Amino acid sequence: MRKTVIAGNWKMNKTIKQAVEYIEELKSRVSDVDDVEIVVFPPFTALLEMCIATDKTNISIGAQNLHWEKSGAFTGEISAEMLREVGCGYVIIGHSERRQYFGETDESVNKKIKAALKHGLIPVVCVGETLPQREEGLTEQIVEAQVKRAVDGIAQDDIAKLIVAYEPVWAIGTGKNASSDDAQQVIANIRDVLKSIAGDKADSIRILYGGSVKPDNIGGFIKEQDIDGALVGGASLNPLDFSEIITRSRGK
Ligand code: PGA
Repeated sequence: MRKTVIAGNWKMNKTIKQAVEYIEELKSRVSDVDDVEIVVFPPFTALLEMCIATDKTNISIGAQNLHWEKSGAFTGEISAEMLREVGCGYVIIGHSERRQYFGETDESVNKKIKAALKHGLIPVVCVGETLPQREEGLTEQIVEAQVKRAVDGIAQDDIAKLIVAYEPVWAIGTGKNASSDDAQQVIANIRDVLKSIAGDKADSIRILYGGSVKPDNIGGFIKEQDIDGALVGGASLNPLDFSEIITRSRGK
């Protein structure tokens, strides 16, 4: 049994004040949800307040990035240890915006996953193809290579702790979501790749869909056999929409 995960990636949005207002609203709307793992990823500046506000609730907090080194001369970076100290339990690694705008590579993704696991953070590892890659029929090939490189050199027991998010780049923030059939197919393939590396241990890995998930399309994704939840960007910024997505993901 894999527990459904609904994760909200706020990207570079919300001040501390806005974050706290949001979380109070969300808490009141989802307090009875015990069958969905709810994780919110605010910007670094709001992490501490958010961890305090969600202490002893059913909402967990994660960061949107980290650096693989423990400490040192890396201006502007944040380590896994720092995130743990603040109270984070999760970290997004390899989001396509980081790959596209900030030089994230499969190699840095791999190092970051190792650092996160070493410090007890659950990595949410993002993979996905661009539109030209999809049009050339390269989706499975690209995603497979990203997954293999992400987990390179990681022990099977640790691979089992990962959450993977399949996010077709062309579907992020565009309002164009993949069809649930397409997403199911790519995600089933990701599971096969992970099984070929981690054996039966891969059965416990949650694999999410991400890309223009909204209250009115979550139902289609969640009913697919291999889709264990969603990584939600835009629609996670509104606590009403986000709580609706959570509610509609229950009972799988
Ligand atoms: P979106 O973003 O839901 O706004 O498409 C998803 C993501 O970037 O994780």
